[in-house]
Amino acid sequence: MSAPNKSYDPVEVSALQPDELDGARDAALAAIAGAADLDALKQVRLAHAGDRSPLALANREIGALPPQARAEAGKRIGAARGAVSTALKERQAELEAKRDQRVLVEESVDVTLPWDRAPKGARHPLTTLQERMVDVFVSMGFEVAEGPEVEAEWFNFDALNFTPDHPARSMQDTFFVESEESGLVLRTHTSPMQIRSLLSRDLPVYVVGPGRTFRTDELDATHAPVFHQLEGLAVDEGLTMADLRGGIDAFVAGMFGEGLTVRMRPSYFPFTEPSAEVDMQCFVCRGASVEPGADPCRTCGSEGWIEIGGCGMVNPRVLVACGVDPERYSGWAFGLGVERTLMFRHGVEDMHDMVEGDTRFTLPFGMEI
Ligand code: FA5
Repeated sequence: MSAPNKSYDPVEVSALQPDELDGARDAALAAIAGAADLDALKQVRLAHAGDRSPLALANREIGALPPQARAEAGKRIGAARGAVSTALKERQAELEAKRDQRVLVEESVDVTLPWDRAPKGARHPLTTLQERMVDVFVSMGFEVAEGPEVEAEWFNFDALNFTPDHPARSMQDTFFVESEESGLVLRTHTSPMQIRSLLSRDLPVYVVGPGRTFRTDELDATHAPVFHQLEGLAVDEGLTMADLRGGIDAFVAGMFGEGLTVRMRPSYFPFTEPSAEVDMQCFVCRGASVEPGADPCRTCGSEGWIEIGGCGMVNPRVLVACGVDPERYSGWAFGLGVERTLMFRHGVEDMHDMVEGDTRFTLPFGMEI
C-alpha cells in the first residue's frame, strides 16, 4: 500500500471531490445491482470495494489534505463506502437466497415416487428354456449331471471312440487350451458327460446333462462359437432303440405338446451305433404346410419337420472304455442344441439376438427370476 501523498494541493485531489466520490459510489451501486449471480458479485466487490477500487484509492488521499479538510472528506468517503458495503451485503443475501431456491428445485427428490419398482434382472431365455428341457427328463426319473467346460481330450474324444485322425479333433473345429499337445480342449459337446457319468455312478445310469459348449464356428444367424447343448444318457440292462424312441417321444410331448410324430434318419456319431438325426413334426403347422396350396409355415420352412438333435444306441466301445460290460448293459443317448431349440420354439431368426444382451429381445420372454 502506498503512503499518503502529502505533496498534493487539496484543491487538485480530484478523487476526493464530491462529484467524483458520488460518481464512484453510483458506479459501484449500479454494478452491484446488475450482478446476476454470486460469481459476478464477487468480481464487482473486487472492482468497487477492493484495495484498488476508486473509493479505496480516494480514501488513501485523505492524508494529503490539510487537517481542517480531512474530517469532511473522511465523512464523504465513509458515507460512500458505507453505501457500497450495505448494497453489497444486501445483494449478496438476495443472490444467496436465489441460489438456495434454485438448488432446492434442481436437487429436489420426490419422496412419493415408488422406490421398489426399479426393473430387476431376469434370467436369460436360454437359461429358462434349458431348465424346462431338463425338467422334462427329471420328471422321467433322470438325474442331472455336470462336467467341466475345460475338458481332457480323452473324455471329449478318445473315450467317445473318435479316432486320432477324426476331423473334429483339428484346430479348425476345436479350441485347444495352450497348444494342441496340451491334452485339454474347451469341450466341443456335452457328450463327455456320458463318460464322466458312467465312470462315477453306479449302474443303471439315467442322466441329463445341460452345459456350455465351444466350437471354432463364426457367430452368424444359426451358429455361435459358444452355445449350449443338452445331453441325455440311459444305460441299463435290456435297453433297445424302442426305449430311445420312447424317451424322445416323451421329451417332445413334454416340451411341445402331445400327438407330434417323431422320426429318425440314419446318421453317424462315433459314440453311438446305430446313430440317427431326430426330427419332430412341426408343432405349428403339424405337417400341413407341405400340402399343395397350403399356407407357408415359418417355423419349419414348410418342410413339415423340424430337426431337433442327434441320438443313437451307446456304442459298445464307449461302454468298454468306461468299464461297463456291453454283454450285460446297453444304452441310448441323445444330444441337442439349446440355442437352435430356442430359435424354432420361439421364432428367433438370428442367434446374434441371444448373445447381444439387448433387453428388447429378452423382455418379451417375461421376467422369470
Ligand atoms: C453332437 O454334438 C453330439 N454330441 C450329439 C449327440 C449326443 C449325438 C448323443 C448322439 C448321442 P452335433 O455336432 O450335431 O452333435 O451337435 C448337436 C446340436 O448342437 C446340433 O443339432 C445343433 O443344434 C447344436 N449346434 C452345433 N453346433 C452349433 C453352433 N455352432 N451353434 C449353435 N448350436 C450348435
